[in-house]
Amino acid sequence: MFLLLFGAPGAGKGTQAQRLADFLEIPHLSTGDALRQARQDDTPLGRKAAEFIDAGQLVPDELVVGVVGEKLSQPDCTDGCLLDGFPRTLAQAQALGAHLQENSQQIDLVLELTAPEEELTLRMLQRACIEGRSDDTPETIAQRIEVYCNETMPVLDYYRQQGVVHSIDGTGTPTEVFERIRQVVEKSRS
Ligand code: AP5
Ligand code: MG
Repeated sequence: MFLLLFGAPGAGKGTQAQRLADFLEIPHLSTGDALRQARQDDTPLGRKAAEFIDAGQLVPDELVVGVVGEKLSQPDCTDGCLLDGFPRTLAQAQALGAHLQENSQQIDLVLELTAPEEELTLRMLQRACIEGRSDDTPETIAQRIEVYCNETMPVLDYYRQQGVVHSIDGTGTPTEVFERIRQVVEKSRS
């Protein structure tokens, strides 16, 4: 299965992607995690991405598309993959579509996690105290949420037209949220 996980910053994509990938026994990729790893490794990609991440802006499409293309070309992704936080622009969605088409693959399911903005912000501010992620400051959080609404929501509309989007209430405990996701995934597989 090829699945995409959408949701505003703090919606729980990373938390649920881990559980869902384990459940489906497919690899998963968070473009955010990959970019942070590149930054930690001080690679050219990581250095370029850092300024965008810290400003709460999207990293340029060509950089992110390269990261995902590399991952999807690995043998463990032949039968499926879970993408967390990609695509975030229509250009990224088109690049993904072209890659999958070339390999006679398709997107099976797009999951959107939803939660009120106050909750998203609270979660990220709490994480800031524990993990110290450089983009978890009040100003950058607000910017990231705005970018999500302006640049990524239209991508969801694009997939909605294809009839593959399922919105899931992302509030409650992570286990409660996962149970909702599991039910949607099971239904789409049957
Ligand atoms: P990315 O790393 O994708 O960050 P994000 O979308 O801003 O979202 P987060 O990772 O903060 O939240 P999440 O939805 O994964 O939630 P999580 O499970 O962590 O992107 C970061 C940056 O990288 C972007 O701004 C951009 O610059 C760049 N980038 C990445 N992808 C890109 C792309 N495709 N194109 C261009 N640029 C790109 O949960 C959040 C917190 O809440 C955690 O502390 C968690 O423990 C907690 N939590 C989770 N679930 C619950 C729950 N149910 N109840 C209570 N707390 C919960
Ligand atoms: Mg994440």
